[in-house]
Amino acid sequence: MSNQLVLSCQNVRKSYVQGKETIDILRGIDLDVVAGETLAIVGASGSGKSTLLNILGALDAPTSGEVSIAGQKAASLKEKAKAKLRNAHVGFVYQFHHLLPEFTALENVAMPLVIKGESPARAQKEAATWLERVGLGHRLSHKPGQLSGGERQRVAIARAIAPRPSCVLMDEPTGNLDPESADSVQALLWELVKDNQTAFVLVTHDPALAREMSKSYRLQDGHLIREVDSLSM
Ligand SMILES: Nc1ncnc2c1ncn2[C@@H]1O[C@H](COP(=O)(O)OP(=O)(O)OP(=O)(O)O)[C@@H](O)[C@H]1O
Ligand SMILES: [Mg+2]
Repeated sequence: MSNQLVLSCQNVRKSYVQGKETIDILRGIDLDVVAGETLAIVGASGSGKSTLLNILGALDAPTSGEVSIAGQKAASLKEKAKAKLRNAHVGFVYQFHHLLPEFTALENVAMPLVIKGESPARAQKEAATWLERVGLGHRLSHKPGQLSGGERQRVAIARAIAPRPSCVLMDEPTGNLDPESADSVQALLWELVKDNQTAFVLVTHDPALAREMSKSYRLQDGHLIREVDSLSM
């Protein structure tokens, strides 16, 4: 199953029109993500990292260029089919966590499992296991407003990985975490890479974390540039 392409984009451009001005954020991005691969994307604030992640996961459309998820071109699909493709293959950890405020941690993690077709009882059982794995077994019935920033981030991570997507897109996933929690989340990611061939695309400001990934890229002036000092796996 390795070398299987889970996500790819070709010549992706993204511009925003602001009054009379057009701002070119992405200026021709090509990227392939294969099963089990871990990619880091680093770059200055405002360079377009979150924009690129949203386009890669087909949450946002590029101005031009193509995005494929599991070999299917996102642009060729209607919204409903696109959402289905995304739910089947892509997990998101957003820069700002996007948890549902009215639901408990357990319910937030169980939700995508129920959407995927699992019974509520089974979804809750699995959700509890994932929350335990990110160190939140004692916070199952807390709502996001009753959790710390780092705890919310870990709920968001559990929610993204619980449905076992082929690729997880993470925007600064460990930025809010203390070193110990960051290490345990990272250990969990490596387990998923090893056991399930999960691919990760991770936006980070942490150069040490970027170096641990199989490839590392810098987003600069709208282009992705491979960082040469990353470890090859
Ligand atoms: N809807 C929009 N309309 C106009 N400009 C936008 C829009 N969304 C993003 N931008 C601009 O695009 C640029 C890239 O934004 P993006 O959020 O992708 O940056 P980033 O690299 O993730 O930054 P950070 O590290 O601060 O999270 C920013 O300068 C931002 O102002
Ligand atoms: Mg961002």
